[in-house]
Amino acid sequence: MTLKKRERILRAGMAGMGMIFDETYRPLFEELHRTGLFTPQTGLVQVPLVATASRTGRRAKRYLEHAKGRIHPFEIFAGPNAVEELAASNVDFVCVATPDDRHFEAALAALKHGKHVLIEKPSVLSLQELDQLVRLATERGVLARVVYHKLFDPDHKKLRTLVTDGVLRHVNNGYCSLLEPKRIALQQFAEWIEGRNPGTYVAVHYIKLIDFTFGGRLVRVSATGQRGLVSDPDSSTWDSVQLRLEYRYPDGREAAFDIHTSWVTPDNFPGYVEQEVQFRFDNGVWNAHQRKRGVELTVEGRTPHELKVHLNDHYNSEALEPWGERTVRGYGLEAIRRFIEEVAYVEFGGPEEERDARLAQMRTLSYSDLSADRQVVAAVQAMEAILRYHARGHPGSVVHVNCPDGGLVLHTTVGNHREVLYEPEV
Ligand SMILES: NC(=O)c1ccc[n+]([C@@H]2O[C@H](COP(=O)([O-])OP(=O)(O)OC[C@H]3O[C@@H](n4cnc5c(N)ncnc54)[C@H](O)[C@@H]3O)[C@@H](O)[C@H]2O)c1
Repeated sequence: MTLKKRERILRAGMAGMGMIFDETYRPLFEELHRTGLFTPQTGLVQVPLVATASRTGRRAKRYLEHAKGRIHPFEIFAGPNAVEELAASNVDFVCVATPDDRHFEAALAALKHGKHVLIEKPSVLSLQELDQLVRLATERGVLARVVYHKLFDPDHKKLRTLVTDGVLRHVNNGYCSLLEPKRIALQQFAEWIEGRNPGTYVAVHYIKLIDFTFGGRLVRVSATGQRGLVSDPDSSTWDSVQLRLEYRYPDGREAAFDIHTSWVTPDNFPGYVEQEVQFRFDNGVWNAHQRKRGVELTVEGRTPHELKVHLNDHYNSEALEPWGERTVRGYGLEAIRRFIEEVAYVEFGGPEEERDARLAQMRTLSYSDLSADRQVVAAVQAMEAILRYHARGHPGSVVHVNCPDGGLVLHTTVGNHREVLYEPEV
């Protein structure tokens, strides 16, 4: 580690300067630039954004010019070695917000250089990659985390509280849906959409919510989907995906969850995204609909395209505070701030000789530590393999988890063909 302990500075590096940077990292880094980060254990810690890495560097340059005074001047790395150069620079932690199939290389580079790392969801696409990152983070003595900001949504915290307190007893089954507008697939992600699917992109939010809230062991994964709008009907690029997860609990009972995702919902849809969940328990039902908890806005000529009818003020809301200050608040920012607080706690939260104990303590936090992301990554790896077979003309595979043949075993519909996706126990 290159941290200068006494200065109480954590230098941030950002890999990926796209939509999620703009929605959550940018406002948080601007706020931290103004105020620093304070916790009772660490005192005041400065958190300048000192370097960024992206494909062309264009957006970073534009942002740097526009945000003069609002952000620390930062170095811009661009091109094929940008991520490696960022990791090797004088940053103390790296946030990875590149497309989901490019998280691994960026996180690996950061960890190799002994930098703490925060990865956007989904962390990585296979358990083999996850194992490497977790091993490396342990060797280098740094934190490796993933952002699942829906765990910070006040409604999801309430759900988990009711489950933990035994008010809602034993989940039986449930469904979740998260539908993104067409412009995400056809414009925003056009550069990297080929061969990708909306399940990996957004179902992970709910996979993690289910895994973290209800516990249990993942036992089976199946999936299907539709093609033909984003690309050809026989391509490997998916418009929508329906994923089913089956879990077993310590008392031997099982639960099934269906997660429906898409990125081809019409752009004139009234919300940014459509999000709905229902979980059924032995003694109750939890229903949540993101748009139905919110406000409804109409502005002539502006809604529902430029402005949305249904806002999500819980996620990242820009507002004029009663005292005149403009702020951006919400669980999207809270999740990243929490990571930086945890890094600050490890580095500055007590005597140097107790750093290892603080690090070990932070690693036990299963909401975001990579070591606790195994079942989520297993579900993603399984879904990707099922869709790959489907795209080759063999729909209907099922992945069994922790069976005699291996940790993750794909049972295809091609004769009796099985493929071991991951040998060790998940
Ligand atoms: N937490 C959330 O709800 C949420 C929301 C949106 C996106 N995300 C995640 O954030 C990640 C990025 O999504 P986005 O919407 O910002 O995408 P985007 O397409 O808007 O931006 C991607 C960025 O990555 C950069 N990039 C691509 N390849 C790179 C490489 N090899 N090296 C360095 N930079 C590279 C691009 O230049 C661009 O700046 C995805 O993993 C996505 O799942 C999370």
